[in-house]
Amino acid sequence: MAVAMTRAHPAVAPAAPPALELVGVSKSFRGVGAVRDVSLTLPAGTILSLLGPSGCGKTTTLRIVAGFVAPDTGQVRIGSEDVTDLPPHLRHLGMVFQNYALFPHMTVFENVAFGLRMRNLGAAEIGPAVRAALRLVRMTGLEARYPRELSGGQQQRVALARAIVTRPRVLLLDEPFGALDRQLREEMQIELKQLQRTVGISFVFVTHDQEEALTISDRIAVMRSGVIEQVGTPDEVFEQPRSLFVASFFGTVNVFEGTVSGSDGSAILVAGPLGRWRVPARAPVSGACVVAVRAADVAVRRADRDEADDGDWLSIHGRVENIVYKGTTVLYQIRARDGSLVLAAGEPALRASVPVGAPVSAAWRAARTHVFPR
Ligand SMILES: Nc1ncnc2c1ncn2[C@@H]1O[C@H](COP(=O)(O)OP(=O)(O)OP(=O)(O)O)[C@@H](O)[C@H]1O
Ligand SMILES: [Mg+2]
Repeated sequence: MAVAMTRAHPAVAPAAPPALELVGVSKSFRGVGAVRDVSLTLPAGTILSLLGPSGCGKTTTLRIVAGFVAPDTGQVRIGSEDVTDLPPHLRHLGMVFQNYALFPHMTVFENVAFGLRMRNLGAAEIGPAVRAALRLVRMTGLEARYPRELSGGQQQRVALARAIVTRPRVLLLDEPFGALDRQLREEMQIELKQLQRTVGISFVFVTHDQEEALTISDRIAVMRSGVIEQVGTPDEVFEQPRSLFVASFFGTVNVFEGTVSGSDGSAILVAGPLGRWRVPARAPVSGACVVAVRAADVAVRRADRDEADDGDWLSIHGRVENIVYKGTTVLYQIRARDGSLVLAAGEPALRASVPVGAPVSAAWRAARTHVFPR
């Protein structure tokens, strides 16, 4: 028997409005869609990354948010305010670009003070605010230097201080670490995340580097050809990619073609040239499909005879054709019986027992298999 329950509304604190919202935003240049029907929400106090290959529309999306590009359709909201028709300087946003863009003739102090002077603040307010911002980016003591006297990483710290000192409602960062070497880049990623937690400003961070997006973001929007393919936490987009494009964007994947031949509740059966596989059904798929397995999820071991799959694991048999040394890992290229090439990551030490030419089994957990419509 169904029981209708009535209860008093629980006392729920009203949720803070999102820091930023894009609703159905599109922009074409000469008839070519650079941004197509993009809707996004940036919860207050979080970092959202726009991640995608070159030309997918990341910068255009950011420029629409900033107000430098007017969208053809759609709405931009900051807080709960519709700012679509507002000029950039009235949106109260901060921006950091790849190429620092500091004023070369101004000292570090003056660069950071610039935005506050534009607001007609007095020296009594500017001094402490600039020093506090420089402390946050660990640049105390370098106030009197000029940009040419700073390293790239230091210049980018000044650019960050200059952007946060005015307390923008949202900070927009367009590949801010693109010009830095890998090690400095990784340090700056961690620092940026800590800085964001300290100041509490919401960030939109543009990058084409998947590791950077995974490190920095609370949520990632994966873009392709002007369209958002998937939005989710770093875990979600990495572990549960919704398309082959998203799966492939986060590292090397093996792709097998197959046909869905049936399903039994939580799993689907896929038949392909390398066997019949029972894999978890995350989304409904039928008919022709592709099966994607990350090379990093595939384990290689020597197998002088065939062994059957044991249910939790799926495998293919083949012969090692080549081993590519990558430092902390090696990439095995395995020629399967049907002629296809299967990639698997292993530890460098594995080469001693499983050399080129060895018969192997390459196995992965069924749960690490992704199936998409073909
Ligand atoms: N002002 C413009 N006029 C004409 N086409 C433009 C303009 N700005 C961008 N585009 C085009 O729009 C598409 C998206 O460009 P956008 O700069 O947003 O890409 P992106 O994702 O930032 O790429 P990258 O990673 O290389 O910076 C590209 O095809 C680009 O050539
Ligand atoms: Mg760009």
